[in-house]
Amino acid sequence: MKTEIFDVTKLNGDVLESGEIHAGRGARRDMDEALRSIRIAAKTIRAGGLVAFPTETVYGLGCDAFNEAAVKKVYAAKGRPSDNPMIVHIARASDVGALTPRITPEFVRLADSFWPGPLTMILKKKECVPDATTGGLDTVAVRLPDHPAALELIRASGCPLAAPSANLSGSPSPTKAEHVIRDLSGKADVILAGSDSRVGIESAVLDLTSDIPTILRPGVLSADVLSEVLGREVVCDDALLRDGVSSGAAPKSPGMKYRHYAPKAEMLIVEGSEDRVRAEINRLKSLNERLGAAVGVMLFDERAYAEAARDFYARLRELDDLGVDLILAGALSDRTGIGFAIMNRMFKSAGYRVVKV
Ligand code: TXA
Ligand code: MG
Repeated sequence: MKTEIFDVTKLNGDVLESGEIHAGRGARRDMDEALRSIRIAAKTIRAGGLVAFPTETVYGLGCDAFNEAAVKKVYAAKGRPSDNPMIVHIARASDVGALTPRITPEFVRLADSFWPGPLTMILKKKECVPDATTGGLDTVAVRLPDHPAALELIRASGCPLAAPSANLSGSPSPTKAEHVIRDLSGKADVILAGSDSRVGIESAVLDLTSDIPTILRPGVLSADVLSEVLGREVVCDDALLRDGVSSGAAPKSPGMKYRHYAPKAEMLIVEGSEDRVRAEINRLKSLNERLGAAVGVMLFDERAYAEAARDFYARLRELDDLGVDLILAGALSDRTGIGFAIMNRMFKSAGYRVVKV
């Protein structure tokens, strides 16, 4: 398959929302060009094709959420197990009515506070949402992304977009257009190449169908922040709190049971106080290098979690490109916020291989 790649970096959110283009002639031409590309991409979606697009979290690989055949093509393109449901992306909060039979006050409160943004909500699904999209579940995951190209694509397509992250299943999520081009050339019909993802890790997934709202996948919006808006407790699914060590309980979010985000290199996490972690990483690095291994180190600043989230996946891919045999990663100490969400990915990337110092 031939993949068409369009540059949409010049699309500017403020200009779009006002409906006018306040820009010089050059900028205006770039904007028009990006909008034209998005219209071509939308036509592809309507014809049952696959379009990769930027969002604020990571790039997505989208198709018409109501088109079962197209959804199956997304699973095939990614090599993704078909019981792992997809997130359905909408452009207006009111569009959720097409997906769920009951809009609850809690949903409205969260949508008002955090949409557009990195929050996915699990709701009861309407009959018309295909089983292929929801992995056969009776619920549907919905998100309104905070990115002008994504929103314009959804609007122009005239349907909600089912979209998992635009990486091959099992490899790190894509936060740069070049990651998507590498993973999905020949597999997606169109790739909309935008700027680097601003957030860098996937949205928080919050189950609103359980008695207590439950985070199934942590993101940059923490349980505390969500709980404050809801005025009641929000919990993290048990599986997240056990550092992924299985208790045999069935995971609520099918995505939780697969090894994810994995680099090609072996990866080991070193956990402990900042000083000790650095010392142990240095020790292990020299030791392994003496044995002839190429070693990459991943250490983030405990005072800059947002930057760490933004850079995490790109750093994994970078180290793989360098051809290292072993990645030594320093654990972050945060147990609730952005650092916790990064650690959720880091544990999976390393296949839960951790040494404590
Ligand atoms: O930030 C994001 O969420 C990105 C961008 C593209 O929007 N998308 C993304 O999609 O990360 P994906 O498919 O890689 O992850 C979706 C996660 C999976 O862990 C899946 O199991 C869970 O959401 N999920 C989807 N539908 C669900 C449902 N009905 N019940 C429980 N979990 C669900
Ligand atoms: Mg994914």
